[in-house]
Amino acid sequence: MATFSVVLFIIVTLFIGSSSAKLSPNFYDKTCPKVFSTVKSVVHSAVAKEKRMGASLLRLHFHDCFVQGCDASVLLDDTSSFTGEKTARPNNNSIRGFNVVDNIKSKVEAVCPGVVSCADILAIAARDSVVILGGPSWKVKLGRRDSKSASLSAANSGVIPPPTSTLTNLKNRFKARGLSTKDMVVLSGI
Ligand code: HEM
Ligand SMILES: *[C@@H]1O[C@H](CO)[C@@H](O)[C@H](O)[C@H]1NC(C)=O
Repeated sequence: MATFSVVLFIIVTLFIGSSSAKLSPNFYDKTCPKVFSTVKSVVHSAVAKEKRMGASLLRLHFHDCFVQGCDASVLLDDTSSFTGEKTARPNNNSIRGFNVVDNIKSKVEAVCPGVVSCADILAIAARDSVVILGGPSWKVKLGRRDSKSASLSAANSGVIPPPTSTLTNLKNRFKARGLSTKDMVVLSGI
């Protein structure tokens, strides 16, 4: 139980810490009260179909947040003006769940068009995934803005630590995102 509370606190801190705007769990209370139930129902069916999808959605949020903050930049396809994060070393053939996010986004757009950011959808979907798989719950603070650009080189720059990292590098990468060594250990599920 204590571990659950720590996980909860850390995840909340991690995923609001990267934005300077003031986030709030009530951000969509007036503009999109159905956002939580809408996201949850799609995550629920995706995880019912394939349990691993819950893990994949959590990781998508992590990889989004470590590059440029939690701004949904990880979702952007390459364009003529930039090559995005999808093919970066930590992501290529490894991050997944884009179809589920697209599905959530279209359901959310159907209930409240043009209101909810994809970055917030990733944050809610990560929480719902953890809960559905039997983990702890936490309040998701909302109000993130989506990036209009992404950068392959930023995603490749080591901000997402590679599995070959030294312990010092792992600690530094998390520290750069405002996370302690303890946060890192708990978030990694060790
Ligand atoms: C501490 C540094 C970390 C390193 C070096 C690391 C590295 C990795 C690697 C190499 C994989 C396997 C990818 C593949 O097989 O394609 C993986 C999977 C995964 N990681 Fe991490 N990770 C770290 C921290 C985290 C954190 C903090 C979270 C969650 C908040 C996380 C969530 C996951 C999940 C859920 C998967 C499985 C995804 C799936 O099956 O789709 N990881 N990680
Ligand atoms: C990403 O993966 C694809 C498919 O395996 C591969 O063809 C491509 O070269 C990879 N891109 C990078 C940048 O590694």
